[in-house]
Amino acid sequence: MMLNNIAVLTSGGDAPGMNAAIRAVVRTAVFYKKKVFGIQRGYDGLIQGDFKAMNARSVKGILSRGGTILKSARSQAFRTKKGREAAANNLKKNNINGLIVIGGDGTFTGAHLLHKEFGLPVIGIPGTIDNDLYGTDNTVGYDTANNTVVKCIDKIRDTANSHNRLFIVEVMGRDSGFIALSAGIATGALDIVLPETSSNLDKIFDSVQKGAENKKTSNIIVVAEGNKIGTPFEISQKLLTKYPHLDIKVTVLGHVQRGGSPSTLDRVNASIMGVAAVENLINGKSDVMIGIINNKVKCTSLERLINNNASIDFELERISKILST
Ligand code: F6P
Repeated sequence: MMLNNIAVLTSGGDAPGMNAAIRAVVRTAVFYKKKVFGIQRGYDGLIQGDFKAMNARSVKGILSRGGTILKSARSQAFRTKKGREAAANNLKKNNINGLIVIGGDGTFTGAHLLHKEFGLPVIGIPGTIDNDLYGTDNTVGYDTANNTVVKCIDKIRDTANSHNRLFIVEVMGRDSGFIALSAGIATGALDIVLPETSSNLDKIFDSVQKGAENKKTSNIIVVAEGNKIGTPFEISQKLLTKYPHLDIKVTVLGHVQRGGSPSTLDRVNASIMGVAAVENLINGKSDVMIGIINNKVKCTSLERLINNNASIDFELERISKILST
């Protein structure tokens, strides 16, 4: 079947660089003389038929902007077969025979089902700050989020230094510790608490103890939100029970990590992936995510991606331990 009309949507948590990916998809489609439609609010807009024809000028001025001009949602309706059927019917009604979805694993699970149940050609572009996707070295948004976290913790370090304080900083990442690990190393954290490792309080007590023995005066502990010990407030309470003399403050960085102008790396990766997504769709590929592994564009089947987890590099944890003394 000749591919004529392409649609693009963003779904799940927004990530810096999603706009750069939308721009790349739209401009590549125009380059190949295809019609291109933007779908508002992710799968919810797909179910409700909220489509808008786009052209090269629809995406002007968005390369440097955070968020997503198409808006995003975590659609409950799309989790049901009825919702996906309505979405497939809307695509068929508008003669759209290729869909590009930008998002994370939930987005790709939905896209895979849409393909499997209704035979629609779909291609994914990884867009999430969490970097928790198999099939790519970096998801779009991860680099910018890391840079944001590092800038924030550098500022926290100034006040930690001035007051001889211990800060516990919670960072995002859902169930994965990519942001915590790289930002922890980049800010010289005393300890990094990850969801992937069997951290326990004794390990944190040990780090604090060693820090004191090594005459460290200001300390940062980076805690991933999905860690298995507890919230940063709970960890702070436990530390204070054992070391009542400590001056501990907690900062939860929250959604500040999701916003802002995308970094160079995120813009470039999003551009490469956007072009590859359209070209692969035109060449008849479907049910895959475009990734970049060792600087090469790679397609990974959505099924494989859904059944595999991206794993953090434990070597980085070892490096952090050596350097935090
Ligand atoms: O997936 C991106 C992310 O920011 C996660 O790091 C976080 O756990 C989650 O989204 C927060 O989701 P929401 O913005 O819906 O609260």
